[in-house]
Amino acid sequence: MKAILIVALIAATGISTSVVYATGTDPMLARSIDAGPITASWIQFNEVFTGNWQQYGELFTNLQAYLFSRIFLFIVTLVPVIFFFHYLAIGPKKFDHSGQQVYYFNLFNRIIHWVAAFSFSLLVITGLLVILGKMFGGGAVIMNGRSVHIFAAVLFLSSAVPMFLMWLKNMFPAFYDIKWMIIMGDYLSSKTKVVPAGKFNAGQKMWFWLATMGGFVMAYTGFYLWSFRGDVDTLRLMAIIHNFLGAAMTALFLAHLYMSLFAIAGSLGSMLSGYKSQEEINILHSRYKPKH
Ligand code: HEM
Repeated sequence: MKAILIVALIAATGISTSVVYATGTDPMLARSIDAGPITASWIQFNEVFTGNWQQYGELFTNLQAYLFSRIFLFIVTLVPVIFFFHYLAIGPKKFDHSGQQVYYFNLFNRIIHWVAAFSFSLLVITGLLVILGKMFGGGAVIMNGRSVHIFAAVLFLSSAVPMFLMWLKNMFPAFYDIKWMIIMGDYLSSKTKVVPAGKFNAGQKMWFWLATMGGFVMAYTGFYLWSFRGDVDTLRLMAIIHNFLGAAMTALFLAHLYMSLFAIAGSLGSMLSGYKSQEEINILHSRYKPKH
């Protein structure tokens, strides 16, 4: 069974690599969308606020057409494939949710989390539209995607600051996190074993730090790109940081989606109701001592 999965994974990697390669060179899926008048008004709009941004076009076209678009396509095809095979081979961790329940995420935690989830999802979708714009044929959808990206960035920042503050005390590294990482949280085994973790495990901590600190760096670099402040070298550096970090965040975002929607049954329910089962806490968060 494992051998079949490995062969299938290699085949899927090959397929996704060729998709990335092929679409990265001559892509056009939705060229039919008429961009004419919208493009003209968009240029006018930018000229009023930020000057003639098209003079930097060549630099961005080169970076985005040949490198970044492929990295992003690679991530959004390969990461889900890997998780798909993990789901087939290992399956979800299941716990008894009928027993004792513990209040784990308060209302404020949940509201802030869902604002972050909504705005960040918009950022990922519109960011992909912008970076893969050529593949979708450009046009109105991409132009509007860029505006939504900026709106979503402001909304995300307004949730990332309280998220950082509300969970900071639970997110500092602990010694048992090293053990959790060595055994990879026991996610490579289909048997359920007690793993060392506090309120959040080492993987969740890494996601927290990347999402908040990374989010602030994305906002800072994105502000430069949007406003075209600084000289070409500064803009080039900002674009490189924004795109590489964006790619890493997209990969971990997909991992977070997989873990919370598929890998741990009932996880989504805990972020909706606030409650987790005592059994799940005993196994996945064995070092967590809730205050009564
Ligand atoms: C639509 C997308 C998202 C879904 C469905 C989702 C779902 C969840 C769920 C179910 C949990 C609880 C995990 C547990 O059982 O302990 C959780 C936790 C968390 N989420 Fe999300 N989330 C999403 C997007 C995001 C985004 C965009 C961020 C940050 C930018 C984020 C940050 C966190 C953090 C820091 C935690 C606590 C640590 C962890 O469980 O990883 N989530 N999320």
